[in-house]
Amino acid sequence: MKLPPARFAAALIFALSVASTATVADEELARFEDLARKAASQIVGQVRGELVREMERTGPIRSVIVCKYSAPEIASAISRSTGMRVTRVSLRPRNRALGEADAWEQRVLLDFEKRLSSGEKIEALETVEVVREPAGTFHRYMKAIQVSQPCLACHGTGGEISDGVRAQLAAEYPNDVATGYRVGQLRGAVSVKKRVER
Ligand code: HEC
Repeated sequence: MKLPPARFAAALIFALSVASTATVADEELARFEDLARKAASQIVGQVRGELVREMERTGPIRSVIVCKYSAPEIASAISRSTGMRVTRVSLRPRNRALGEADAWEQRVLLDFEKRLSSGEKIEALETVEVVREPAGTFHRYMKAIQVSQPCLACHGTGGEISDGVRAQLAAEYPNDVATGYRVGQLRGAVSVKKRVER
């Protein structure tokens, strides 16, 4: 079918504008992904650095308190400086108030578990998506957090957690479910969220 020239021009302009809107949205998402990935490695690196330093200085019992106060502080400092909401979430959170995954995060964490058990490297587990929610449209990103040796003193199995740490955890987190992990398992993920301005 042949379109008259005016209709053809209109169709062409429409097609081009759809294509360029898609490109702008893709570029925005790619830029978000890049910033989110940096923020994720920042929070993981800073929390880990602080933790290892404190473990060497005062031992694991005092470090429970450090973790309780400094991890959320690091998360809010990074959120403020980047303008994105940066948190750590888990399917088995120690701190329900801060670490509980929402519906989208739960779905991604379950997908990470599946990818991990089908042989993907834990370092490669990340995802980025545009998510429509009742409150608006958001760019969302998640990156897996793995369990390594230093984590076991507070997240490991029976004998790895000392009596002192166990008592401290019981006092601070009576409903703790964040123990019993082994090295290489998925402890949770960094979750980054930013509203898409339109
Ligand atoms: C000294 C004890 C201690 C060690 C060691 C430790 N953690 Fe934690 N972890 C905690 C405490 C306490 C919390 C709860 C913090 C809070 O109240 O927000 C926590 C919370 C978390 C959370 C947030 C989700 C949740 O469960 O509330 C993640 C993720 C996490 N830890 C990962 C790690 C990783 C990875 C390591 C090893 C690099 C590690 N932790 C080592 C004590 C520890």
